[in-house]
Amino acid sequence: MSKEYDKLKKAYDCIREKTDFVPDVALILGSGLGALADEIEAEAIVDYSEIEGFPVSTVVGHKGRFVFGKIGQVKVVIMQGRVHYYEGYAMSDVVLPTRLMGMMGAKVLFLTNAAGGANLDFHAGGFMLIRDQIMAFVPNPLIGENIEELGPRFPDMSDLYDHELRSVIKKAAGRLGIALKEGVYVQFTGPSFETPAEVRMASMAGGDAVGMSTAVEAVAGHHMGMKICGISCISNKAAGLSETPLTHEEVQETADRVAPFFRELVKESIRDIGKAL
Ligand code: HPA
Repeated sequence: MSKEYDKLKKAYDCIREKTDFVPDVALILGSGLGALADEIEAEAIVDYSEIEGFPVSTVVGHKGRFVFGKIGQVKVVIMQGRVHYYEGYAMSDVVLPTRLMGMMGAKVLFLTNAAGGANLDFHAGGFMLIRDQIMAFVPNPLIGENIEELGPRFPDMSDLYDHELRSVIKKAAGRLGIALKEGVYVQFTGPSFETPAEVRMASMAGGDAVGMSTAVEAVAGHHMGMKICGISCISNKAAGLSETPLTHEEVQETADRVAPFFRELVKESIRDIGKAL
């Protein structure tokens, strides 16, 4: 057994001492979305600090806990607060929570984030369904001894963001009257925002939105067989595309402003995904 798998098993056993909940969907909440977890009736809550070996988030305003409950009829485990590479953790630790949720039984991984719009058609406050991603600017989370118990050494990535889930989410957005663009998410390490040149590069490479999370979680989840989907809240125009310098406060403010719509879209999508499972 690899060291990484051993660590995962220990963390998994810790959770299983507290709850035997088996989720259908794993949901990771990005900036501004945290309140979604407070809206559901929790069947169990496990703080990250209670889990052996779990990386605990250092970002101000990020809660750190798993919330277990239902959205409609769908059993979900929600990560209220994610772990970012820029906090200094090894990439294997950044994706440990994702893997744990997969081990608990989640078949679908639903990723959300706040991101900067690199596509000139995107405006702050809009939403982007993630069609594909570029992860080439951060270390691949599968580097190191392959965890054979989870998946293959060289996993295919040609339908990373599952086309059926994308179609379900698009329909949900249409029904709710929420405009949903579609595009490619590019992950950078952060914590500094990108330079205008990096944003131009991302855009020329086919990217539509830039951020500091998500792509590595998608790869780790897909590696172990979860179906992946994701939505970005475009909280700002990426660096170089707006007149004012970027601030975390601006990102937070916009994400908070549109959060009620974002939450509705995510919940409606999950209810529909449940029917398709
Ligand atoms: N860049 C990177 N991450 C982000 C941004 C951005 O412009 N906005 C929100 N998260």
